[in-house]
Amino acid sequence: MEFNIKSGHPEKQRTACVVVGIYEPRRLSDVAKRIDEVSEGYLSSILRRGDLEGNPNQTLLLHNVPGTLADRILLVGCGRERELGDNQYRKIIKQAIRTLHETGSMEAVCYLTELNVRGRNIAWRIRQAIEVTQSALYVFDQLKTKKENTRRPLRKIVFSITSRRELSIAEHASHEAQKIAEGVKLAKDLANLPGNICTPTYLADQVKILCSLHENLSCKILLEKHLEKQGLNALLAVSKGSIQSPRLIILEYRASKKNKNPVVLVGKGVTFDAGGISLKPAKDMDEMKFDMSGAAAVLGTISTIAELQLPINVVGIMPAVENLPGAKAMKPGDIVTSLSGQTIEILNTDAEGRLILSDALTYAERYKPDVIIDIATLTGACVIALGQHAHGLLSNHNPLTNDLLNAGKFSCDRAWELPLWDDYQEQIDSRCADIANIGGREAGTITAACFLSRFTKKYRWAHLDIAGTAWLSDKKEKGATGRPVPLLTQYLIERSREEHPA
Ligand code: BES
Ligand code: MN
Ligand code: ZN
Repeated sequence: MEFNIKSGHPEKQRTACVVVGIYEPRRLSDVAKRIDEVSEGYLSSILRRGDLEGNPNQTLLLHNVPGTLADRILLVGCGRERELGDNQYRKIIKQAIRTLHETGSMEAVCYLTELNVRGRNIAWRIRQAIEVTQSALYVFDQLKTKKENTRRPLRKIVFSITSRRELSIAEHASHEAQKIAEGVKLAKDLANLPGNICTPTYLADQVKILCSLHENLSCKILLEKHLEKQGLNALLAVSKGSIQSPRLIILEYRASKKNKNPVVLVGKGVTFDAGGISLKPAKDMDEMKFDMSGAAAVLGTISTIAELQLPINVVGIMPAVENLPGAKAMKPGDIVTSLSGQTIEILNTDAEGRLILSDALTYAERYKPDVIIDIATLTGACVIALGQHAHGLLSNHNPLTNDLLNAGKFSCDRAWELPLWDDYQEQIDSRCADIANIGGREAGTITAACFLSRFTKKYRWAHLDIAGTAWLSDKKEKGATGRPVPLLTQYLIERSREEHPA
């Protein structure tokens, strides 16, 4: 898809389609008013007849509107002007893009970026418009032999700004948005791949490929024998039930001073989670191919920041394993000594994410992280608590929490904080070892984070539980979301700005 930014009158656009907003009830937006004037009341007469109320999700396609040069004008319902906020804006854009794509306009000039969105400037509106466009048009059809081709697909879209003075910030926003959208797509593609293709080895190979594309990237792949030698026994325990061999994948991005401590991103990479000996029920088990979405988000984010050439240091660590109930699998009651030296009693083999993360978080110490953020599809309890809209966020450092919450709000990829109080710690006490890997039915997301906190005492750390947000299960839109690539990228953009003020 090609994106452009322009300012100019709507009636003068020689294009397949001009897209303008109509507010509820039957009220013209500024741009629609202008078209109405040049067409001598053509739009207002249509509205008067009652063809379009202006509700969100409504559209009306008009052809050969008098006084205009475009083949078509697409009217898009925007809801009430005073209520136009982030979510509404994103819905409007999505609706417009889908309609354009389906109605044969291969190019369009879209004026919806000129709408007034509460508290948001042009840079934000352009950024979201492009990200939403790319995600509305996303399809995962790599594995279909017959692709569903749209006959006249949307190829090029111009987003409008009110004045040339906004051009440079709008273009910067457009650049950022396109790179974020690419990172999101990369994460989606990886997560959507099935477990028989996307194995730990496959993930490592993808990292090598990404690495070869950028000067500032380097990677290190630890194989099973290295992991044994170093003592990542919690990670190895999970992998034992599978014939897929595990990997610890490290992807480094260095574009700031050598001595600048990095942000370390740790992403859970369970390429399939059958639960192990504590086997999961059959229903929806296929969705456990998405259990490497944390790793996919780390890869997508690092790819984006490398494309943006942000002046920061970031290290991605992706423990990659498959969790199956093979003959050599770990068993409930097994006790392992983790890389940190702490012993773990494995009471449920399905709580495997925290096992591989605990070793990865300990391994991360050698990079002297300034902060460390782990991203994991960790608990079903988080899906129950927050649903598909917000990531669970737990952290041992308040300023980091605030930065992540704010990055999530700005990027429409929101997180919500849950308490990491020490009151919950006793739930993971073990009778036979230092820690148990489960903490009972209550507060499952919090006790999982408590478990991780035992391995992150030495640094500022935050945990994002993306179990509810990493993919959608509804039939219509089933698939990976690429979240939280937008949140993480925004956080890193802000950080690079603080480190290198313009
Ligand atoms: N990958 C799952 C968490 C999950 C479940 C994510 C459903 C999304 C949807 C994780 O490895 C897991 O199995 N967690 C267990 C932990 C329990 C045994 C303490 C869970 O949440 O049931
Ligand atoms: Mn599990
Ligand atoms: Zn899992």
